[in-house]
Amino acid sequence: MNYNIIAFSGSLRKESYTTKLVKAFQQFAPQQMTVNYVEIGHLPFINQDLEANLPAAVLDLHETIAKADGVIFATPEYNRSYSPVLKNAIDWGSRPEGENKWKRKPVAIVGCTPYNLGAFGAQNHLRQSMMYLDMVPLQQPEFYLGKAAEKFDAAGKLTDETSIKKIIELWEAFAPLIAMHAEKK
Ligand SMILES: Cc1cc2nc3c(=O)[nH]c(=O)nc-3n(C[C@H](O)[C@H](O)[C@H](O)COP(=O)(O)O)c2cc1C
Repeated sequence: MNYNIIAFSGSLRKESYTTKLVKAFQQFAPQQMTVNYVEIGHLPFINQDLEANLPAAVLDLHETIAKADGVIFATPEYNRSYSPVLKNAIDWGSRPEGENKWKRKPVAIVGCTPYNLGAFGAQNHLRQSMMYLDMVPLQQPEFYLGKAAEKFDAAGKLTDETSIKKIIELWEAFAPLIAMHAEKK
């Protein structure tokens, strides 16, 4: 059995640490977990007027979510919350009203920052939204990567052994959660 995991980065920055973190989750995924990175920078800004005739980018996002067995949200921290880019994608996935595409999807929340706290504030807010959207958040282990500038090499690869070990530990908990929910479908 192979599982389709969709992964989102909350940063559009070319040299984003958050996007590099997503690639590290891709690199260290167990064999049966295929991680597909989903671009979100081209989505229109959330606007209920668009719901009568949903833009193609939003319909594509809906289809991508519907096919997923699991989700990874990687977020930077913006003023102690998660980024508007990521929120925009999450909001579109929850619309129109009554058609929440995220419902019952297993989700892992991760984040990073060049500073110390590993995007704790961002992840905390994000977790609250996951609850409201009736997702199935992985509760432990949590994943905080601080001092990001020291942890990736010039090519963007994660080189910090402790962080790599934590990614592997997260997968060891997340993969069974994904498999269990896929069986119930
Ligand atoms: C609007 C804005 C607000 C920010 N607020 C925080 C913050 O609350 N906590 C933090 O650790 N870093 C904060 N930062 C710094 C980001 O962590 C840093 O720019 C980081 O590199 C962004 O993630 P990225 O590398 O994936 O783009 C903020 C950056 C921006 C642009």
